Amino acid sequence: MKLADNKSTLSFSNGSPQVELPVYQGTIGPDVIDIRKLYAQTGMFTYDPGFMSTASCQSAITYIDGDKGELLYRGYPIEQLAEKCDYLDTCYLLLNGELPDNAQRDDFHQLVTNHTMVNEQMQFFLRGFRRDAHPMAVLTGLVGALSAFYHDSTDIHNPEHRNIAAIRLIAKMPTLVAMAYKYGLGQPYMYPQNNLSYAGNFLRMMFGTPCEEYKVNPVIEKAMDRIFILHADHEQNASTSTVRLCGSSGTNPFAAIAAGVACLWGPAHGGANEAALNMLYDIQKQGGVEKIGDFIKQVKDKNSNVKLMGFGHRVYKNYDPRAKLMQETCNEVLEALGLQNDPLFALAKALEKIALEDEYFVSRKLYPNVDFYSGIVQRAVGIPVNLFTGIFALARTVGWIAQLNEMIADPEYKIGRPRQLYVGSPRRNVP
Ligand code: CMC
Repeated sequence: MKLADNKSTLSFSNGSPQVELPVYQGTIGPDVIDIRKLYAQTGMFTYDPGFMSTASCQSAITYIDGDKGELLYRGYPIEQLAEKCDYLDTCYLLLNGELPDNAQRDDFHQLVTNHTMVNEQMQFFLRGFRRDAHPMAVLTGLVGALSAFYHDSTDIHNPEHRNIAAIRLIAKMPTLVAMAYKYGLGQPYMYPQNNLSYAGNFLRMMFGTPCEEYKVNPVIEKAMDRIFILHADHEQNASTSTVRLCGSSGTNPFAAIAAGVACLWGPAHGGANEAALNMLYDIQKQGGVEKIGDFIKQVKDKNSNVKLMGFGHRVYKNYDPRAKLMQETCNEVLEALGLQNDPLFALAKALEKIALEDEYFVSRKLYPNVDFYSGIVQRAVGIPVNLFTGIFALARTVGWIAQLNEMIADPEYKIGRPRQLYVGSPRRNVP
């Protein structure tokens, strides 16, 4: 880490000696104050629930400038990657730090393709679930269970194990998500077909059946690929931090990624795309565009607990660049499928317009996030609402694994162990 010119000094009003704290500089973004020795020097901890001001690690993978609305993977703007690369190029970039050349690209595609099947026994494990189980419950179980099937890639301290686990996870996630879907439907699982693209293969495993040939629609294939790229990584968000914390104990990569899947499920995180679409359905049921005013009133009422789902972000306080790209894809998909006049899309656009002009949202810097439009695209493609977060998990797996592997390879890595401000009863005796 590079020391900044700036220095920080912490002083106390009770006369305790001042403490000098080093300040480090990243390549871009805010500097950080190094408080690692604070407890040893002062006997005090810092207090930062929700990590509002805390950098939990150093990372060279993803950078977000929330005020500018900028997202970079390994330095490349998301807009350029979405335009010029496919998801597997993006995976290679996130894992290795550079975009692949032609030979590396072919090798990587080949490698991932060779790992798309899952152990046949996985389908019997899947059978233990109720057919109506939420796909995220199923996926949490299936991903964790991979560690029981691939014993030769569970040692997180072995770089070869880490690499092969990364490839297995990226390759097998589409297969698992599609299996979870088919199981719920009661249809036969479709084995992967390796002459298709990553997104095309996923679509076939989802919507194909053994009785008919499945033809991949290139517009939908491109849209899926873009959804995957936009969700591939997002620096130290809740699920990624969960994966890092879980992996910091030395647990195997499959278990750490399963923890990420579980965290992603929540409606404040990956579950927001499902929640956003359900919100649109609710407004539609109550009367559609006419009822937006009433809905916004509810959102502004602090006692209602109603949020405008798909709006707001902890980091983006200008706009979410992924939302813009997703809106573009949304237009393309709806047009290709002849759904331009889709009432839900019209409702989403009207809701967005009203919210963007409303003082409540403007003053709090609340803008649409990626989930506002991704649900509409997925619904148009035919993906059921309860599988949206599963698609997000599929796409984010590469980010989780890149971040996990970066942490393990970092010489400064330690088990994650936050401290606390204890406010419970002091020591007392049982009567
Ligand atoms: N609707 C209404 N009010 C909101 C919303 C919203 N969606 N988001 C934030 N606010 C208000 C919040 O009530 C607070 O108001 P006040 O200052 O009067 O108390 C203010 O804006 C600041 O909000 P916050 O909760 O302190 O912000 P945060 O950074 O802790 O939360 C968030 C970020 C994403 C959890 C939140 O904006 C939210 O719950 N949004 C809806 C869920 C959603 O769309 N999540 C997807 C995030 S993007 C995908 C991903 O990366 O997972």
